[in-house]
Amino acid sequence: MSESIYGAHLPEMIEIQQEMEARVESIRRELAGKLGMDPVEHCLSRIKSEESMREKCRRNDLPETTESALEVLHDAIGFRIVCAFVDDVYTIRDRLTAFADCKVVTEKDYIRHAKPNGYRSYHMILRIRETYYVEFQLRTISMDTWAALEHHLKYKKHVANESLIVQELKRCADELASTDISMQTIRDLILQDEV
Ligand code: GTP
Ligand code: MG
Repeated sequence: MSESIYGAHLPEMIEIQQEMEARVESIRRELAGKLGMDPVEHCLSRIKSEESMREKCRRNDLPETTESALEVLHDAIGFRIVCAFVDDVYTIRDRLTAFADCKVVTEKDYIRHAKPNGYRSYHMILRIRETYYVEFQLRTISMDTWAALEHHLKYKKHVANESLIVQELKRCADELASTDISMQTIRDLILQDEV
């Protein structure tokens, strides 16, 4: 068998993944106590498979080396955190960046600035203990639903009416975003009453 693209780093990468999972858990517990509900619907994490990482290197014209996988590309370790409400996304973001050993490398706010196709999500790369990069995708349930459905549809090639489909997907994304704003407003009203 050929050597892993992650070289001897895999055990340490798994440790970092577990450490960040534990941090997300503790943030959830703390906020659940404060808000009266867990703001996170679900959290998934993964280490990019050998095959996907090699494919990504090739796609980006990079040599299939440990350096490319860990230093040049920054999503070998990835987290997707799906929140109930839009405000929760930013609350979780603030908590994650507050750890002393985490440095924000890049942030892309596709919630405030949606992609032209309607994709929404908050993307952030953190560097942990000067060593490993971790990619976080934070989004609401609605944004996650849209991304999952749009991802399914991407696999269907050569569809007739492609421009109509693109337009309809964008419309769905915008409608979901508008519903997210309404749901947030409803929650704010409920929380206001509780004070
Ligand atoms: P990658 O090479 O895929 O990492 O792209 P990038 O470095 O330009 O990063 P970007 O922040 O644009 O997107 C990274 C990830 O976000 C993707 O791998 C997807 O998981 C998700 N994503 C971005 N755009 C879309 C989209 O239009 N639709 C869906 N379903 N997911 C998206
Ligand atoms: Mg990526």
